[in-house]
Amino acid sequence: MISRSLRELGVNVPFPSFRRAPRFVRTHVPRVSSGRAVDIGCGRGAVTLHLARAGYEALGLDPVLQRPLPRHRRLSFETGDARHYDFGREKFDVVVILNVLQLLSNRESQDLLDRVYVALRPSGRLILSGFTEDDPLLLDARREIPHLVDGTELLDEDGRTVRGFLRRDQLLAWCEQRSVEVLHHQQMLVDDAHPPYGRHQHALVRLVGIKSGERP
Ligand SMILES: C[S@@+](CC[C@H](N)C(=O)[O-])C[C@H]1O[C@@H](n2cnc3c(N)ncnc32)[C@H](O)[C@@H]1O
Repeated sequence: MISRSLRELGVNVPFPSFRRAPRFVRTHVPRVSSGRAVDIGCGRGAVTLHLARAGYEALGLDPVLQRPLPRHRRLSFETGDARHYDFGREKFDVVVILNVLQLLSNRESQDLLDRVYVALRPSGRLILSGFTEDDPLLLDARREIPHLVDGTELLDEDGRTVRGFLRRDQLLAWCEQRSVEVLHHQQMLVDDAHPPYGRHQHALVRLVGIKSGERP
């Protein structure tokens, strides 16, 4: 067996953030005359800007905001860690979490999803994309450093989670438990290319869910 390091497998390199909102987000963010939205793990804020332009008071939250950030009268940014952030109750019409959950443990992701559910208003939307257990990074790790893989988590030598991957149908099961109507669910392999790894792929799941209940 060839034993490779986590670093050689592509861990520790930050995944780049979007320069503009991806199409599935643009399709599923309704335009409004008023409303509130939060973009969790917003990176450089391109998706947050899209939310503001669509009419929402849009908050971008990230422990490491990538400056320069866009400017808009309905846009604000906060440095913060989603694991400890108080999103409140029924405060948001749209919650966006794009390509962030892989940086949390599976328990932290589950906890975040549950708190986000509480923070959504009735009829509010969750728009999410995340890496699944079919991700080539996890499959390579299982083959090459199996002692650092625990189920769908990738660990460091001290046993701390460095990557958590969603199980294939985890989000659908969560929606069913929570009575979240699934508007869009798609699993796919996408091409990616960034230094220092060049061309590679990720297994992504995309979800758009609507919290049940009428707006008060
Ligand atoms: C791959 S980037 C995605 C950025 C953006 N969502 C996008 O898709 O363009 C992952 C982002 O998650 C942020 N992040 C990491 N840990 C986080 C946490 N605990 N709470 C909130 N954001 C976090 C990172 O700083 C980074 O900006």
